[in-house]
Amino acid sequence: MIIFLIGYMGAGKTTRGKQLASLLNYQFIDLDEYIENKYKTAIPILFQRIGESGFRLLEKKSLEELYALQNTIIATGGGAACFFNNIESMNSNGISIYLKLQPEQLARRLLQSKKKRPLIANKTPQQLISYIAQTLEHRKNFYEQAQLTIDAETDNNQKIIESLNQLKNSENRFG
Ligand code: S3P
Repeated sequence: MIIFLIGYMGAGKTTRGKQLASLLNYQFIDLDEYIENKYKTAIPILFQRIGESGFRLLEKKSLEELYALQNTIIATGGGAACFFNNIESMNSNGISIYLKLQPEQLARRLLQSKKKRPLIANKTPQQLISYIAQTLEHRKNFYEQAQLTIDAETDNNQKIIESLNQLKNSENRFG
């Protein structure tokens, strides 16, 4: 079983992913880190060299390489679910969980984060919040296709694991 964590930049996919992996005894993979290791290049440099569209192709290809894994949690980058048919293919290769937060919450977290994110580099706090609001409006159409949605600020890991178990039981019962 693979569990895919999806959601906007700053929603805590990597942090949550590591915690859930250790509670479930699963291996953890961060898709951005996998891409950086595979191409020996940092994400912002990839964006500079091949543009966002080039990055999306590598992201899709890398994601597909991981579908054969077992007992793995994959934290995807914020755009991964929103391009090509990635959300459909994640859903058919495992369980997807949307870590949901509001634009204000995301902006607050992103302003404190040290990770370099080319799409939001050099934005003022005001520009950041309107960029998030705009892009989330489009991206949520994809994020909302996840099989589970959690409130990334208030839901704890135990609650997520219970919801996952309920989902697995209902899938077993109904085929
Ligand atoms: C992106 C999110 C980033 C990274 C890249 C593009 C996006 O990952 O994949 O900078 O399009 O939202 P995080 O969601 O881990 O920041």
